[in-house]
Amino acid sequence: MNEGFETLAIHAGQEADPHTGAVVPPIYAVSTYKQDGVGGLRAGYEYSRSANPTRTALEEALAAVEGGARGLAFASGLAAEDTLLRTVCKPGDHVVIPDDAYGGTYRLFSRVLQEWGVSFDPVPLGDLDAVRAAVRPETKAVWVETPTNPLLNVADIAALADVAHDRGAVLVVDNTFASPYLQQPLSLGADVVVHSTTKYVGGHSDVVGGALVTRSADLGERLAYHQNAMGAVAGPFDAWLTLRGLKTLGVRMDRHCDNAERVVDLLLSHPKVVQVLYPGLPEHPGHEVAAKQMRRFGGMVSFRVEGGEEAAVEICNRAELFTLGESLGGVESLIEHPGRMTHASAAGSPLEVPADLVRLSVGIETVDDLLADLSEALG
Ligand SMILES: Cc1ncc(COP(=O)(O)O)c(C=O)c1O
Repeated sequence: MNEGFETLAIHAGQEADPHTGAVVPPIYAVSTYKQDGVGGLRAGYEYSRSANPTRTALEEALAAVEGGARGLAFASGLAAEDTLLRTVCKPGDHVVIPDDAYGGTYRLFSRVLQEWGVSFDPVPLGDLDAVRAAVRPETKAVWVETPTNPLLNVADIAALADVAHDRGAVLVVDNTFASPYLQQPLSLGADVVVHSTTKYVGGHSDVVGGALVTRSADLGERLAYHQNAMGAVAGPFDAWLTLRGLKTLGVRMDRHCDNAERVVDLLLSHPKVVQVLYPGLPEHPGHEVAAKQMRRFGGMVSFRVEGGEEAAVEICNRAELFTLGESLGGVESLIEHPGRMTHASAAGSPLEVPADLVRLSVGIETVDDLLADLSEALG
């Protein structure tokens, strides 16, 4: 088979159904499988927590588009994160995380894993010396998000892989914001990619899911064991929707990027906007690294406004085509106030986000309509 991204997204793991020729993997809404004599499994299927053919199709496709050895699909991004962390860490271990990690990831560390004895340190990942200094003998993972949610900071995946590997830690990259179309962390030295497939991979705001993709088959096998033992798997309907979304990821991402670039131009010229955060801007501190490791710069744009929190909240309330809501990565444009919404759980922590920040998930609607709505909302 050809190896192009779109070809893999549409075909990997998705052979026509051998019984009917159906060109799309069916939704196997089933919990158990008939055995031909005790232990006589057909195609290895035994019980749907362990494996389900619809989920297998998604897992194979995800592994293919990330260039990994093994893909695993979970009930949510956080379920994937939890399974990964409880596979690679035990009580007494330590993880380095970004100082602007996604709020839910921070909460998993600070409110759940820490109580079970896994410690962590938030570090600015752009500062390699700071990362080196934070890595201790008990550090089992360096956790990277790039670009970050919601500040769109960029981290150098290849350089961080060297730092982690020098100390025997694994490099984990949450690739949710970029998607596998724009960035392939495993090819840059990462050991595991994490996704909230709820976002760009699913792409239509109609399913919650998560994924892990590993570079080595060995780590993939350990994670698969824990996936089954812990049980936070993607159900067959969710797997099917996510797989349908994945097929169009490439074309959607190109349009997300086109529209985001136009939105950035509008924001840059608006007197009420004091700063635009977008890795595609040459003045963005991570621009060079982003240009090196990303195909394009993505559909997420954040900006800070004059007038502080009140003005930022007002803009969110006034937008109409940009729907006020959490989440991101769907075909429809969303606007939100991270301080009060997605990142409220980081309030009062070192990861608190600026109060005057607005985050946009730029969708694939007609761009002139998006620009008109945003101009109206900015006033
Ligand atoms: C960067 C990032 N990672 C992980 C998650 C968690 O994923 P989920 O909401 O699917 O559990 C999110 C959700 O917003 C996210 O933005």
